[in-house]
Amino acid sequence: MQLINTITEMQALAQNTFPGKSIGFVPTMGFLHQGHLSLVERSVSECDLTVVSIFVNPAQFGANEDLDSYPRDMDRDLKLLEPLGVDYVFFPSNGMMYPSGYKTWVEVRELSDVLCGASRPGHFVGVATVVLKLVNLVKPTYMYMGEKDFQQVTVLQTMLRDLNLSTRIVPCPIIRDGNGLALSSRNTYLSPTDYPKALSLSRCITRAQELASSGERLSENILRELNILLQNSGAKPDYISIVDSRSLSPQSVVDCNSRLILAAFVGKTRLIDNGRVLLDN
Ligand code: PAJ
Repeated sequence: MQLINTITEMQALAQNTFPGKSIGFVPTMGFLHQGHLSLVERSVSECDLTVVSIFVNPAQFGANEDLDSYPRDMDRDLKLLEPLGVDYVFFPSNGMMYPSGYKTWVEVRELSDVLCGASRPGHFVGVATVVLKLVNLVKPTYMYMGEKDFQQVTVLQTMLRDLNLSTRIVPCPIIRDGNGLALSSRNTYLSPTDYPKALSLSRCITRAQELASSGERLSENILRELNILLQNSGAKPDYISIVDSRSLSPQSVVDCNSRLILAAFVGKTRLIDNGRVLLDN
């Protein structure tokens, strides 16, 4: 496993070593868990070479968000990646990614302003910008991304398509702990009393699936019950919505493309989750 910490090294690899090979890329902000590692394992099994990036991107954090406290542990991350057969770990510095005089930002309109984008203004501009920069540097064939961040996948698929980039996103399933909580680097913020509250997010998904499978099709009725479920658990809903999984537009009637997508505060920690509403028979 080779460590790359300059942009020029990364560009040289992409130019000299990567042509003719299938390149899998897993962008991350580090503090890796099994959710990240599932993406890495899939890339290693499907591609000739795998690149993982670790970069806590300041541009996607709001002024009052957790950039400074975001968990970081590079040594631990490298120990987790080494045995998986990763070929390159790219970890640029802030100054390399955003040198003084940096002025260019990427905006995927409409999709960036709803759901998490409504609560976190500017977040998806930061995500789209850093991912476009990383894709330009790594030039991957495939980019492995988790459905945990469902809106992120939709925003970035749209960006790649609109800008005629050939990299394809491979959306990968959400990895959860034994109680259903979606793994997240931010779960380290949860206290023992927060943890049971955090489980209410995934309970909302299973409850929506139960209601839909027993014949309920009106989003309004499903969402009313889920809001009560969240509040009773002690989590504070940020948003909870049933959307068309392709357009992210709210749906009043559930169909096979429906996605339940939600964010809630547990104490100070903001957690997100999502899942299909109608499961295949
Ligand atoms: P980060 O939160 O570190 O996540 C990196 C990748 O891991 C994303 O594709 C995310 O969806 C995926 N992931 C996280 N938790 C997961 C889980 N429980 N199951 C499956 N996949 C999971 O997402 C980002 O970083 C950043 O926005 C980034 C794309 C790196 C741009 O800065």
